[in-house]
Amino acid sequence: MNHLEIEMGKYELFMVILLVSGYGFVDGLRMDYYFMMGCPFAEGIVKNIVNRHLQADPTLAAALVRMHFHDCFVQGCDASVLIDSTKDNTAEKDSPANFSLRGYEVIDQVKEQLEIQCPGVVSCADILAMAARDAVFFAGGPVYDIPKGRKDGTRSRIEDTINLPPPTLNSSELIRLFGQHGFTAQEMVALSGAHTLGVARCSSFKHRLSNFDSTHDVDPTLDAQFAKTLSKRCTNSDKSEQAFDTTKDNFDNDYYYALQRNTGVLFSDQTLYNHPRTRGIVNAYAFNQAMFFLDFQQAMIKMGLLDVKEGSKGEVRANCRIIN
Ligand code: HEM
Repeated sequence: MNHLEIEMGKYELFMVILLVSGYGFVDGLRMDYYFMMGCPFAEGIVKNIVNRHLQADPTLAAALVRMHFHDCFVQGCDASVLIDSTKDNTAEKDSPANFSLRGYEVIDQVKEQLEIQCPGVVSCADILAMAARDAVFFAGGPVYDIPKGRKDGTRSRIEDTINLPPPTLNSSELIRLFGQHGFTAQEMVALSGAHTLGVARCSSFKHRLSNFDSTHDVDPTLDAQFAKTLSKRCTNSDKSEQAFDTTKDNFDNDYYYALQRNTGVLFSDQTLYNHPRTRGIVNAYAFNQAMFFLDFQQAMIKMGLLDVKEGSKGEVRANCRIIN
């Protein structure tokens, strides 16, 4: 064997090691997953299309962040929320808890483009996680990298959305529910800070405005003036919208100021300030935006790993709305 043949042999050995270890990466989430899978532009494609949509309609940032949350808390982050109902199955997206989800068309367009560039490689679950991440950054929030390699699930049933938190929960109940998914109280308060973006409809908070409980007509934790504003807002329709804070398209810590002023829109928002276990965390985030950003990004990365399906446990859907 001459020197060149030895060198070629080494090269082949290297390629074999790469391929063998390459097989291993299919079964795990990695930051460079799509680079390793031969689709290095996946992240860029997602970002470009998401940015284009957000420039046209900045309110979609809220929608994409919420969609990722509603995906991850039901059957794990497996894009089950994107599946359309069929004549035999009512899917998650047709649950009342998901009626106001928006932004499906953004994900569809990203998927279409990625299927042209690298067919069968980029999962809908990863697209959703990347889109939410890009939306946070677009709105002025922290920039962070997320591991990829989630596979798409094959189950989406309306009854599973029972796992989504209703806005009537108090702080202890929220701590318990998020705790079941492995989150601390602090992580729950940080994730609730996603309500720095977007709006709630009257149907989500009108229970606070009349017949609240046996001793109060109006929720006593609600600022009296703000209660009037909300009541006025809700005279026309259950669908009228109220922003969570004064800067609904900006990712900042104004949401926590709102809670300090007793102007949290949902009962489940205001309770975070009224409960001794979570009040200090609200105050800390209101005082220190950098701390909120750091905790939020870490909690989002953690949320994005909830019950992910890897390797052969899932599929890469060709169309995010339909199981292959
Ligand atoms: C802590 C428990 C939570 C409860 C009870 C809750 C409940 C709600 C409700 C009722 C709405 C308004 C829906 C409507 O009236 O149309 C809403 C909106 C929203 N939620 Fe949550 N949520 C929670 C946590 C989260 C988390 C963890 C995230 C994301 C990480 C999130 C992101 C959003 C966003 C961005 C909106 C605004 C959507 C838009 O404007 O289109 N929420 N949430």
